[in-house]
Amino acid sequence: MKQLSLPSGSQLLAKHFTYGVATASFQIEGGAADRLPCIWDTFCSKEGKIADNSNGDVACEHYTRWQDDIDLIESLGVDAYRLSISWPRVMTKAGHLNPKGVKFYTDILDELKRRNIKAFVTLYHWDLPQHIEDEGGWLNRNTAYEFAHYTDLITQAFGERVHSYATLNEPFCSSYLGYEIGVHAPGIVGREYGRKAAHHLLLGHGLAMQVLAKNSPNSLNGIVLNFTPCYPVTQCEEDLNATAFADDYINQWYMQPVMQGQYPDIINQLPKAQRPDILQGDMDIIAQPLDYLGVNFYTRMHYQASETDFYHELPHKAPMTDIGWEIYPKALTELLVSLNEKYTLPPIYITENGAAMADEFKDGEVNDNDRIDYYHEHLNALHNATVQGVKVDGYFAWSLMDNFEWAEGYLKRFGIVHVDYDTQTRTVKASGKAYRKLITSR
Ligand code: NOJ
Repeated sequence: MKQLSLPSGSQLLAKHFTYGVATASFQIEGGAADRLPCIWDTFCSKEGKIADNSNGDVACEHYTRWQDDIDLIESLGVDAYRLSISWPRVMTKAGHLNPKGVKFYTDILDELKRRNIKAFVTLYHWDLPQHIEDEGGWLNRNTAYEFAHYTDLITQAFGERVHSYATLNEPFCSSYLGYEIGVHAPGIVGREYGRKAAHHLLLGHGLAMQVLAKNSPNSLNGIVLNFTPCYPVTQCEEDLNATAFADDYINQWYMQPVMQGQYPDIINQLPKAQRPDILQGDMDIIAQPLDYLGVNFYTRMHYQASETDFYHELPHKAPMTDIGWEIYPKALTELLVSLNEKYTLPPIYITENGAAMADEFKDGEVNDNDRIDYYHEHLNALHNATVQGVKVDGYFAWSLMDNFEWAEGYLKRFGIVHVDYDTQTRTVKASGKAYRKLITSR
């Protein structure tokens, strides 16, 4: 069996370095009848939106199997578990807490505590209550305040159970994929929408950070951003400029407001109709101090100049994972080093990293050596960033188990644990065993 290894003396081998596994509510829970509908329920019900026409009604049945799943998490030897709270499960339409939904999570959090597994809780991992979408969703400024209200109630209910909170997971995906190109829920398409949704998401983040500072001052509070580093196809000036624009549009658009209270300068190049409505004081709210920054990393992209647009994005290069994303670990090192140069960073947690692979379940085993290679290379790339001075405190594998991969349905498997969707049997893959070995050998 392949192993995961790091150079001896690596900071990633320190006992206090946090290793975890990550999931998200809609992707694993099922139990849809026990919560309000969300935008992903609606999106899944539309023809042609999900590759296998599936939905989140059952998913991994974590809603009823959570105790066994915590056994599984513990068996992997991890220090931490990153989960998300389903807003439509814990809140009623009238804006009160739903006690049954809250209990589902407090039971999980209590069980994690008993086993000494740190809970990293994401407050918003894309499952917006549908009734809020019906009022405009993230295009409506009021949604930011609804999010702060939900954050206020749920964090009071959780008390001291949570080690770390993230306000949002990947606001780029919520706004760009959901409200600009429409490949994610709610499926809205139009350049005039993406930046507006992003602004309200970021405002919601800032407001929620203020709530967290009041309700949960002892937890590590921050945000999870995804980065897809942008590389030019050639070194000619036009391609370099197009690539810089793409980086600002895709990555820094979320990072710069959060860290520095301003949007990248490219905002001035966008037509007026595509700019967000920024009210006085918004940028200060958005730029709340962070206890940590969560970084999700999977791949990189290439860009060139375009005659008709700000940039042209090229298809992924080989080698690729099963979801078609290039495997290029060096981009993780370069990303972290460049962020560390550009910004005054809080401690970094890699809150997601992992690979969809075409797993073969054979004789009760999954020998996913390709996934082990992916993890090995990325952990070593992360190590290289720490050698260059980036402060990294933790790493989470995406994902604990195979689950609902959004527009790809159940066809793409990211788990270090295999899920048989017919029987809901969980089987630890070779990658899960290798991960356990690395963690417990420290
Ligand atoms: C980003 C998301 O946070 C997660 O929900 C998703 O499954 C993985 N990356 C893989 O695409």
